[in-house]
Amino acid sequence: MRVLLTGGAGFIGSHTALKLLEAGHEAISLDNLSNSSAESLKRVSQITGRPAPLCVGDCTVEADVERVFREYAPIDAVIHFAGLKAVGESVSKPLDYYQNNLDSTFTLLRVMQKYDCRTVVFSSSATVYGTNQEMPLREDFPTGCTNPYGWTKWMNERVLTDCAKAMGLNVVLLRYFNPIGAHESGMIGEDPSGIPNNLMPFICQVASGKLERLNVFGNDYPTPDGTGVRDYIHVCDLAEGHLAALEYAADHPGTEIVNLGTGIGYSVLDIVHTFEKANGLTLPYTIAPRRPGDIAVCYADPSKAEKLLGWHARRSLEDMCRDSWNWQKNNPDGYGK
Ligand code: NAD
Ligand code: UD1
Repeated sequence: MRVLLTGGAGFIGSHTALKLLEAGHEAISLDNLSNSSAESLKRVSQITGRPAPLCVGDCTVEADVERVFREYAPIDAVIHFAGLKAVGESVSKPLDYYQNNLDSTFTLLRVMQKYDCRTVVFSSSATVYGTNQEMPLREDFPTGCTNPYGWTKWMNERVLTDCAKAMGLNVVLLRYFNPIGAHESGMIGEDPSGIPNNLMPFICQVASGKLERLNVFGNDYPTPDGTGVRDYIHVCDLAEGHLAALEYAADHPGTEIVNLGTGIGYSVLDIVHTFEKANGLTLPYTIAPRRPGDIAVCYADPSKAEKLLGWHARRSLEDMCRDSWNWQKNNPDGYGK
């Protein structure tokens, strides 16, 4: 298949481009580079020995999207990663988030309709499960969000579901849990700008000496060691999940919602200790107050992904910690963007 990856230069997009190329598909990316570097796809091309073309353009601009559809006709399917994703920033700049994350989908769907492209896989998030208490989280659980970023995912799910029905599209909505890790080559990985908000990039910068110590946000949660529990998934497993979703979507009209997680919850201290052991390092940390908006526990029921897509996560927490550090160690300044 010839696949368009919106946001393909980003963390998950670049790893997915690599897996698509390895599986014999073509991967064309459209990215405005607002949170990424063209270097990621150059490296994907080096690793795979195949072209990974990048069109620099904005998904909210119809002419930019149309240019790709024209230049690379026929595009068989789209994986729609493009979006802004910082939860805190979405609270202070909601309009930027609603505009970018929704307009990009509207524009994409209009152009897809014009070029008769019917298959789309969308990057949603476990954040749409809101404050559900019952674990593991199943796709049919009630949804609701706690911040504008989350609502953009929730609204996009709605838009794509309605359009699938009316326009005869094949849609898979993937709800990611907590992607970490990097490709085993250490050549591509996550490259956040500024001080990282998320746990693993923060840990990597503590390990490299860029940051002094990790703040563990709360040790009084109702969890075995009191720290927050999440379902961390290796980004290469996640990328392979996209491949499975795409191959499924290609001949299944309608909408399916699928969790991509491991089904296993690890605490912040589990991550700290596994990272130390896997990499032979010591991570200084302090117990700090809870971070506002955090929930105690969040992990997936991944059984639908296995049943529907024949996919399950294969990589361990040790693999995730080793590969995250390997990327950071080899690229202390990320892609140097
Ligand atoms: P990322 O920021 O690395 O990738 C997103 C890419 O989209 C970036 O390269 C950015 O430049 C691009 N982009 C943003 N707006 C654009 C626009 N209007 N036009 C063209 N390109 C645009 O983030 P990621 O971690 O790879 O996430 C990919 C997707 O998965 C996002 O939609 C994100 O919300 C979603 N998601 C991520 C996580 C996570 O933990 N990383 C979890 C759940 C869902
Ligand atoms: C966050 C977002 C979620 C998004 C996901 C992307 C919030 C409330 N949720 O999820 O919408 O999809 O990122 O990966 O922001 N922690 C520390 N110290 C740190 C950083 C994190 O102790 O410096 C803890 C957190 O309290 C949490 C765990 O580590 O228990 C994971 O945090 P993080 O990586 O930010 O992910 P989420 O909060 O699960």
